[in-house]
Amino acid sequence: MDDRAIGVFDSGIGGLTVAAEIKKLLPNEKIIYFGDTARVPYGTRGDGIIREYARQDCRFLLKRSVKAVVAACGTVSSVALDAVAAEADVPVYGVTEPAARYAAEKYPRGRVGVIGTPATVESGSFAKLLSRFAPECEVVSAACPLFVPLVESGMLSGEAVELIASEYIAPLGSPDALILGCTHFPLLAPVISALLPETELINTGECLARLLASELEPGSGGADEYYVSDIGRGTRELACRIMGGEVALITASAE
Ligand code: DGL
Repeated sequence: MDDRAIGVFDSGIGGLTVAAEIKKLLPNEKIIYFGDTARVPYGTRGDGIIREYARQDCRFLLKRSVKAVVAACGTVSSVALDAVAAEADVPVYGVTEPAARYAAEKYPRGRVGVIGTPATVESGSFAKLLSRFAPECEVVSAACPLFVPLVESGMLSGEAVELIASEYIAPLGSPDALILGCTHFPLLAPVISALLPETELINTGECLARLLASELEPGSGGADEYYVSDIGRGTRELACRIMGGEVALITASAE
């Protein structure tokens, strides 16, 4: 038994989709969450800044009692996981590898799409892992820079969102599976699956939660803590919507 919390961070509130999956599978785990909402988005910035912000986010969690740190951010997992791991004296998990492994095992000779932030797609993180785990798998990817601001502003449906989504996704054709390579994107899953009705959408948080369940020593609960660096217009509503209930957000700075 290890009663320390699981520390989870993201550039914003998208990482709550990962926290929600962890809570679903591991209801007895306490979560300490940090969302850097004052500085979101990360995915359109250069690698140096993303790595610096990610280190600060990790240090914020390490000041509390955590048994593991989860980079619940496709961008950080793609370009800064080594920097985060170098900060931490507890295991660090990213969202890229568990999802790539799942896709590679299920579609070893299939066509797998990856969507993410520009930083994630340019890093080729998912494509590299997929070609390692399933060399015969064909990978197609697309950067979706407008998805994160849409989600953070609570705009999850409607004609404008559908139009933007189809602009990004149409060039991918109809892959067997599509990795939602940014943790904000599960919130747009209804719009995406309407465009790709035959494609399995892979939620990276779900894959990561299964990995945590198999590797972490179980805890016995405790009150979750949710910190954000800014409570913007609509932040609270979106956080509650993702977690399926009341979320008491606390403002704190990563620095
Ligand atoms: N949730 C983050 C991710 O998974 C969003 C990155 C951003 O802030 O642009 O990539």
